[in-house]
Amino acid sequence: MNKKQRSSITRKEFIKKSSAGVVGTGIILQKPLSWVSWNTEPEKRTLGRSGIEVTTLGFGASRTQEPALLLAALDTGINFIDTGRSYARGQNEVMVGKTVKDRRKDLIIQSKVRIRPSEKGDDLKTKEASKKIREMMQKSLDESLEALQTDYIDIWLIHGADSEEILHHETVMEFFSDLKQRGIIRATGFSSHHNQAELLEADNALNFYDVAMVSYTFSGSYTHSNSGTFSQYNQEALEREMKIAHQHQKGIIGMKACSAGPFKGKDDEKASFGNAIKWVLDKPYIQSAAVAMANFTQIEENTKAIFGS
Ligand SMILES: NC(=O)c1ccc[n+]([C@@H]2O[C@H](COP(=O)([O-])OP(=O)(O)OC[C@H]3O[C@@H](n4cnc5c(N)ncnc54)[C@H](OP(=O)(O)O)[C@@H]3O)[C@@H](O)[C@H]2O)c1
Repeated sequence: MNKKQRSSITRKEFIKKSSAGVVGTGIILQKPLSWVSWNTEPEKRTLGRSGIEVTTLGFGASRTQEPALLLAALDTGINFIDTGRSYARGQNEVMVGKTVKDRRKDLIIQSKVRIRPSEKGDDLKTKEASKKIREMMQKSLDESLEALQTDYIDIWLIHGADSEEILHHETVMEFFSDLKQRGIIRATGFSSHHNQAELLEADNALNFYDVAMVSYTFSGSYTHSNSGTFSQYNQEALEREMKIAHQHQKGIIGMKACSAGPFKGKDDEKASFGNAIKWVLDKPYIQSAAVAMANFTQIEENTKAIFGS
């Protein structure tokens, strides 16, 4: 859909479209699409060597099960959806799959696999551990493809990688490489929360993964939107490793951009969540910020801030 077509969508058409084959609540559909009109097409950036083009603002699906919200976000021009096998116990991928099945080829879908084969400290170099890892990854992949109603995933990430032992486990890397070769995934990657600078540094040395998804905010800290857990990270170390990763042609996606609160960009500006996202996107080594938008107001606020100016 081009800009003109997007801008001319009527409320009646939107309701019809949003309700087609999906469940929408009356309350949510009462908001008109007042924001789908930009002077230019939303900016896209290329995720490094993967060649995948994503809009600078991505739709983090994790905080909604409402198809109408996802459709509204896509109608603003967003082409990038971030989900995960474990979100809503698999139902988040089901919602995404149902909602976008008719426009799958126009969209970039990122999903994630959790790889936790054992208790911390167990030996992962054994044949049994490798077998377990392979089975876990295969099961998660099969379930994701079925839920998403697709035969490929654009970007497949290790969900919340927390050790180099898993990140660079031979079996994990072999599995990813094989899927990429067979066209089942287009890009490999990992997301991380705790030791993200260290993991990025380790992968910069090996340069295996195509994409990294990192928690990155103006304050060097974030509050997890589900658990409420507050975390701080080493901003300087993360930025140093992101710059190196960028030189290695690794794509970088920021997450948690809004979770440190509103940001005051300039002295004469009001602090806003849009500014918090802009702060992330102003960095030349970041291609997209996946922001979990849980209602129409947040979609409107964020798309206006990023696409509307
Ligand atoms: N890879 C992983 O392990 C992992 C884990 C968690 C999340 N994620 C992904 O990371 C991305 C960001 O997730 P997130 O929810 O943690 O962080 P976020 O989207 O950056 O921030 C969400 C928090 O910001 C608040 N907020 C206020 N105004 C907002 C606005 N205009 N837009 C968005 N949020 C606003 C929300 O408040 P309210 O609560 O009042 O709405 C919520 O507490 C998503 O794509 C998500 O799927 C990944």
